Parts: sequence; structure tokens; C-alpha cells
Amino acid sequence: MLIKRILTGIRPTGALHLGHYAGALKQWVLFQEEYECFFLIADIQALTTHVDRPTLIEKAVREVMLDWISVGLDPTKPNVHFVLQSNLPELAELTTYFTMLVPFSEIEKNPTIKAERAQSDSAPTTGFMIYPVSQAADILLFTPYPPQEKDELLVPVGEDQVPHLEGTNRIARRFNRRYERVFLECAPKVGKIGRLPGTDGQAKMSKSLGNVILLKDNPDTVEKLVMKMFTDEKKARKGDPGHPEKCPTYLYHQTFGDQKTLEGRASRCQSGRLGCVECKKDLVRVLNTFLDPIRARRKKAESAPLGKYLREGTEKAREIGQVTMKAVRQAMHLDYSSVFNEIDS
Ligand code: TRP
Repeated sequence: MLIKRILTGIRPTGALHLGHYAGALKQWVLFQEEYECFFLIADIQALTTHVDRPTLIEKAVREVMLDWISVGLDPTKPNVHFVLQSNLPELAELTTYFTMLVPFSEIEKNPTIKAERAQSDSAPTTGFMIYPVSQAADILLFTPYPPQEKDELLVPVGEDQVPHLEGTNRIARRFNRRYERVFLECAPKVGKIGRLPGTDGQAKMSKSLGNVILLKDNPDTVEKLVMKMFTDEKKARKGDPGHPEKCPTYLYHQTFGDQKTLEGRASRCQSGRLGCVECKKDLVRVLNTFLDPIRARRKKAESAPLGKYLREGTEKAREIGQVTMKAVRQAMHLDYSSVFNEIDS
């Protein structure tokens, strides 16, 4: 039987924002119609940056689930599974084996690792340095097994994660060559929508920069944040010609507005007929219209059996993981059951 499987993950370090939605969640929701989906809450990977803040991670696991359900991920569907990384011991085992297949120099050259090291002023821990290997385990544990050419293991991620997926497939190829063919290579699925800029026009939304709109923000907060938002720098007042293609506010309109609110907006801005204040007031309405159903689903989810969803999803992941690990141990000659045939006396 053809297997079409999705595995993707997120580090639970806080509530999710509009950037997460535009860059990732919007796609994930659609995948639920077609794929067997495993959405991983990577709480161990979160320790690579938050080892001193365990309670923050613990709280964020719940937050992430609420955010996921609020945007329409549905763990009550039989093909949709929420998985908690720390409760899947098979991942730790597979990570250990994979570390032997990766020259350390390869990790040091990984551009994402390099960029993350450059941003941090503390010395990287061993756990941080090997997280690309543990991420390879996150993905390959879910290999369709035995792997068939037509099966799929799709990994929707942002651009920055591509080096990790290339590393993952190097591991899969090395393993298959050296031992036995256990793994299907994963297929990266990089979202088309670029990064949504922060409300201050900075390239990235990030909580530490204070330029994010959260999925759970209430209408008043959204209004405050939007009215402070940056627009085209060259447009100082209504009447000045604007450059919508360079304006973060317009980009938000494009991402969250419908045909009707977009129509003529660019040309009215360019001609100076549309002022930034009016444009932002429109955006407040657009965003709150977009967020209202999300808020409603979130409210309902607050009394849903989240722990049960997570247990069941993780249990399903373990079933698959145990099949993979059995094949891995056999291929690596770590399954000694056939070596010793003592008779119990
Ligand atoms: N590194 C990813 C991020 O920071 C999160 C992640 C953990 C992940 N395990 C994964 C993504 C497996 C895809 C597949 O966003």
C-alpha cells in the first residue's frame, strides 16, 4: 500500500504568531486532507537554546497545541497525530546510531548551525552541535518501511531548515549503502510564501524584537500593534506617492486580505489617494476577520483533552518507530537475539 507521510516539527519556546501561520501552518492544514501527518513538538531540541528554562518549554507545549488546533490542525482526524519528542525514546536511540555516520566537520560547515552560532555569545553545547543529527532521527524514524520508490516522506519546512534535510538524506544514503536499505530519503517542501516581516519592517518576526502579532492576540492588541506598524518610509503623509511593494503593511494585506480588500489598494497607494492611517485601519479589520475563527477554535480547544491527543499521537508514532528501530538494529547487527541461543535452564 502506498504511504504518503508528512513529518514536521516545531520547537516549543512560546506562542505562535502570524509569521508561523503564513510560513508554515497554512500549508500544514492543507496536508491533512491528503497525508498521514505527524506534527512533532520538539521539546528536546528546544533545550538546545532553552536549557535554563524548562518550565517555559513545558508551558509552550500546551500553547503550541492550542495554536495548532486554533488554525485548523485536527488531532481528532485518524490521520493526524501530535507527537511529543521527549516521549518517543526511539528517537534518542536512533540519534545515537546516526552520530556515528556524520563527520563532525560536516556539522561545523552546516550554514544554519554557523548562523545560529554567530547569533549566540555562549559556547555551543554538544547537544546543540548534534541537533541536526537528532533532527535527522526525527524525520527518518518515520520512514515508510520497507521503503518503496512511490512512497513519500514529505517534510514541510522553512528555507533555513534545508541544510538539515540535506544532512538527513546524506545519513539515509550512508546507512542504506553501508548496511541495508532501511530508509526512504525525505523530500523537502519549502513554503512558497516568503517570510512575513515584523510589524517594524525587520526581515523577521521574532518575539525578542517585540514585532510580532500572536495568533492568540485579542482585537485590541491587534489594533494597537497594527496602528504602530511601519509603512513605506518614503510616504510621509497622505498624498505622497507610495511604494506598496516595499511596504510591510501592504505585504500583510496581500497575505491575509481577500480579493476585495486588495483590489485597487496598490494603485490608490501609489497615486497618493490612500493614506497609511486608513490603510492600517483596513488592515486591523482584515486581520481581525482572519483571526476571529481562529480565536473561536482556540476557545473551544482550551477545554479539549489535549493530553489525550498528545498521548495517542505519540503512541502511534511509537508503533511506527518500533518497526523502524527493529530494522535498524538488525541492519547494524545490534539485534543479538540470533547470536546467542542459550537454553534457559
Ligand atoms: N528545527 C526545526 C525548527 O527550528 C524544528 C524541528 C525539529 C523539525 N525536528 C524537526 C522540523 C523535524 C522538521 C522536521 O523550526
